[in-house]
Amino acid sequence: MRGGERLKRLVRERYGRLARGAGSCCAPTCDSRSLGYTDEELSSVPEGADLGLGCGSPLALAALKPGETVVDLGSGAGIDCFLAARMVGARGRVIGVDMTPEMVGRARASAREHGYRNVDFRLGAIEELPIEDRSADVVISNCVINLSPDKRRVFGEALRVLRPGGRLVVSDVVLARGLPQRVRESLDAYLGCVAGAALKRDYLSMIQSAGFERVRVLSERSYGACVTVGGEETTPARWARHVLSVTVGARRPGEAPRARAARLKGKIIRLQSDGPLARGKSWDERPPSRERGDGPVLRGAVEGGREVLRARGQGEGQGPRPRDEG
Ligand SMILES: C[S@@+](CC[C@H](N)C(=O)[O-])C[C@H]1O[C@@H](n2cnc3c(N)ncnc32)[C@H](O)[C@@H]1O
Repeated sequence: MRGGERLKRLVRERYGRLARGAGSCCAPTCDSRSLGYTDEELSSVPEGADLGLGCGSPLALAALKPGETVVDLGSGAGIDCFLAARMVGARGRVIGVDMTPEMVGRARASAREHGYRNVDFRLGAIEELPIEDRSADVVISNCVINLSPDKRRVFGEALRVLRPGGRLVVSDVVLARGLPQRVRESLDAYLGCVAGAALKRDYLSMIQSAGFERVRVLSERSYGACVTVGGEETTPARWARHVLSVTVGARRPGEAPRARAARLKGKIIRLQSDGPLARGKSWDERPPSRERGDGPVLRGAVEGGREVLRARGQGEGQGPRPRDEG
């Protein structure tokens, strides 16, 4: 078995045990309040969805809107999926992906029992997401990518499933400096979300190289790593200060179809209210006027008008566009 596959098997075993209720969470405290979740949020999710396994609170910074489609990488028992489900509402959709069958089973049972209709939990690896191209508005993740032996591929997959203009908002463990060798080689430290963490600058550059733009650290603090290395509890070790919990935001380049349609619609409304159309003439019956802001704007708006009609399925002989088309 190759090194990466072996690590993934060990991660699956560890998180399988946690899903069955054995063992404790990987952060220094299992209390999600310390990560930024409010009491109201925590009491709104099904009991057992919060196993205290996060290292941040990506939803606090994701600005989800009603109707959006959200994908959660490494959804665990489902805490962020259930919160996101309330934020996107009945017209939206949330898909959690996790490679540990016990986690997916637990999350699906909670969804069934509590009547969540807009949440779907899928068994799969985040390096090969079981999700269509350009189908999500937002990809979130909480304390998972550090566990992946192939982080570049994870970011590539996140980009693939996002629509143009879609957002990536991930909380994760990263390092301000390299770890001592004995920590890097410790399996406990790997499973505890520390030894697999990338240097912060490498993490950000992997996101950018995957094709994202506007890569930003939205929040950062010390993770307070607490792991056992060689049978010894290591906190407060000097190296632990350099283990950080960050939330990073980025965007898939391009304009989201809905934002584009709204922008183009705005231009047409402006033309109709103060442009040539308002005076009973078609847009090309008058010479362009600088005062009216014609010229390129006018031409763009008319091009855009066709786009809007097409987007609504009213263009020349065009049927409605599938929602996931970029
Ligand atoms: C630290 S837990 C975080 C769970 C959840 N995000 C939360 O905040 O409660 C990590 C989760 O990621 C999953 N995981 C780790 N590596 C994965 C991979 N390569 N593909 C899919 N899931 C993975 C594990 O099964 C586990 O449920």
